[in-house]
Amino acid sequence: MTTIELKPSARPLADAEREAILADPGFGRHFTDHMVSVRWTEGRGWHDAELVPYAPLSIDPANMTLHYAQEIFEGLKAYRRPDGSVATFRPEANAARFRASARRMAMPEVPDELFVAACDALVKQDQAWVPAHGGESSLYLRPFMIATEVGLGVRPAKEYLFLVIASPAGAYFPGGVKPVSIWISEDRVRAVPGGVGDAKTGGNYAASLLAQAEAAQHGCAQVAYLDAVEHKWVEELGGMNLYFVYGNKIVTPTLTGSLLAGITRDSLLKVARDLGYESEESRVSLDQWRADTENGTLTEVFACGTAAVITPVGTVKTASGEWTQSGGEAGEVTMKLRGSLLDIQTGKAEDKHGWMHGIV
Ligand code: PLP
Ligand code: COI
Repeated sequence: MTTIELKPSARPLADAEREAILADPGFGRHFTDHMVSVRWTEGRGWHDAELVPYAPLSIDPANMTLHYAQEIFEGLKAYRRPDGSVATFRPEANAARFRASARRMAMPEVPDELFVAACDALVKQDQAWVPAHGGESSLYLRPFMIATEVGLGVRPAKEYLFLVIASPAGAYFPGGVKPVSIWISEDRVRAVPGGVGDAKTGGNYAASLLAQAEAAQHGCAQVAYLDAVEHKWVEELGGMNLYFVYGNKIVTPTLTGSLLAGITRDSLLKVARDLGYESEESRVSLDQWRADTENGTLTEVFACGTAAVITPVGTVKTASGEWTQSGGEAGEVTMKLRGSLLDIQTGKAEDKHGWMHGIV
């Protein structure tokens, strides 16, 4: 079922108001005129796919999501290309991860064709919301699914709603490409083996907020989590994966099941090779991070994700001391990878991996 009935708004935002938002969109503050909504009920499957005006949902106080958090989401971006056309980056990869998250949370899987068709329909309808080519702004798409059944019994719901909303996005970190400071959380963990760390589910983000507040108390912008068993191996940040640059080799922590399989992370393993660097997945310990920075073999560290693109890591703070990567500057390899990935995404460079999905 990939037919989406179009019921567009009779009153989209005026051009001038939209343009004012696009001039400084921020991140996740403004939403486009429409959303896509698809229902699932046990025995019937996916039905009632429609594109409708963006509007609040009416939720029963006993809605199961509000109590037991069966919720999953995705994040992907649509970019304006030099010829004015619009394309999303690897939407099939988001669709596959959304299915994996659904399985882990005992929710129904959205077929890939429906996931991609829903994103396409929204981008097509709200194409005027895709920022102009040339800058780093894009249209961030947020597909998500919630349980809609009413009741307080603890079991998988029998009714769900899959929605896609869109938000014009400027820089995730205001202030441009400046290295971010990282607090290493050595006691609080984000995810455990066998848990839900590799699912993109809201609870993981709720669980990260206290550590994030502690990072802020230590003057840091982000938290890096260690593994929950040995408190030794570096996993990821609250909303980004990590990369360690050793000269001409980039290394990212192995997917152990408790960190999110980032699509940017996966893409960079390939983009790095295209640029003549080596890339590998390997376990990296906090001790190694510190020692290799001090002995000079670890030359740069960066974080990556859809919202944040690639962001250099500057100061790293732990309870027992702090250090600085690349003299607190954005490293050369980091910026080269960032430029190459953005060039593919914005249609400035050849898409030799077939990652771009043209929509309009
Ligand atoms: N890790 C977490 C916890 C995230 O929320 C995200 C963002 O989606 C990422 C990593 C990066 O994933 P991606 O590159 O697919 O956006
Ligand atoms: C993304 O990069 O798409 C994310 O979901 C990260 C975030 C905004 C939590």
